[in-house]
Amino acid sequence: MTERRLPRWSELRPYLRTKPLSRTAVERRLAGAADIADLRDIARRHMPRAVFDYVDGAAETESSLRRSREAFGRVEFAPSVLRDVSSVDPSTTILGQRAALPLIFAPTGFTRLMHHEGEPAVARVAERTGIPYTLSTMGTTSPEDLAAAVPGAQKWFQLYLWRDRDASQALIERARAAGFTALMLTVDTPVAGSRLRDVRNGFSIPPALTARTLADIALHPGWWFDKLTTEPLTFASLGAWHGTIAEMIDKMFDSTLDYDDLAWLRRIWPGPLMVKGVQTVVDARAVSDVGVDALIVSNHGGRQLDRAPVPIEQLPAIADAVGGRVEVYVDGGIMNGGDVVAAVAMGARACLVGRAYLYGLMAGGEAGVQRAADLLRREIVRTMGLLGVTDVAGLTRDRARLRER
Ligand SMILES: Cc1cc2nc3c(=O)[nH]c(=O)nc-3n(C[C@H](O)[C@H](O)[C@H](O)COP(=O)(O)O)c2cc1C
Repeated sequence: MTERRLPRWSELRPYLRTKPLSRTAVERRLAGAADIADLRDIARRHMPRAVFDYVDGAAETESSLRRSREAFGRVEFAPSVLRDVSSVDPSTTILGQRAALPLIFAPTGFTRLMHHEGEPAVARVAERTGIPYTLSTMGTTSPEDLAAAVPGAQKWFQLYLWRDRDASQALIERARAAGFTALMLTVDTPVAGSRLRDVRNGFSIPPALTARTLADIALHPGWWFDKLTTEPLTFASLGAWHGTIAEMIDKMFDSTLDYDDLAWLRRIWPGPLMVKGVQTVVDARAVSDVGVDALIVSNHGGRQLDRAPVPIEQLPAIADAVGGRVEVYVDGGIMNGGDVVAAVAMGARACLVGRAYLYGLMAGGEAGVQRAADLLRREIVRTMGLLGVTDVAGLTRDRARLRER
């Protein structure tokens, strides 16, 4: 028979820990997010549906994105036990510069739509985290304004080459003058992908005032208040725009873009040049032959070609083919630091993330991006420790493989 007694106050006190009262609602929300998927859930609950879907969605049946995420679910690690992992160093070099993590913030258009703090907030977190930040040609902050707001960040510029080559060259020169050190040409967008969620939501920039929009204002007054009381959305390079995203993309993208253009870019851009959107070994070899410094195995986060090759599956063969000549990065579907560790073990020097930080931005502005970066860093360090690896050089090919199913 168990003897019962009344608990003493000193024994109860540890159960009654209260959360600090000074926290705002946003801080409490973010502190409760245990991973990037939680940040996504918060974002989904707090954002107008059309904005959340613009970020979260992908092209057509969304199979490219689904398969990328599913492939990371098939990673199997090979840990070593009985190793001293009391100090784990996840830093690396990216384009010759020290980076605190094998991670890069990917270019994402329209960032001020997700939160009025926009691109500068993301770049500030990149600077604090010690990783590069990439500003998109479709960014809603100009290269000059970004540089003025975050002078210490390591800044890269992502280029969509326009039909008007002189205008493109002028834009690149602006970026260079503003302190952007590397140029990333995106090549997986010869025409606009079809993102059906945007079509169904009637998504446009600026949002059209329809009955549905008015209903949304009632549901998400905070977002609309921020939108209407801060600087209107303008684009890094285009100025004001009135129309659908697909119409803008068709104006922005040049369907004639080819290897001659890449060679031209190589001639006029003196700094490191990267090509983003390589998906096969054949193209990886051809792009490397032009003399670029890095390539990104990417299908644009599944937002362009549906049923595209899965980047993490293509990575080992591409790294084997060109890794000795150029740096190889990968992106698409990364939601966890363990995904980054697996990609590095499978041949990537670094990974780009897009949605992972955008979910954070939507969930809580700059603090949400910081939460995303902190979660990724912790997951990277913990995974390396559990693998028995203390630095990125130890992330060799035998450390991770993709199971068949
Ligand atoms: C909302 C959004 C906007 C994007 N805009 C651009 C862009 O302007 N230029 C570009 O090269 N890639 C763009 N991308 C693709 C990202 O750079 C990156 O390749 C992709 O997000 C990686 O997949 P992940 O989101 O699963 O990490 C965008 C992605 C998202 C989600």
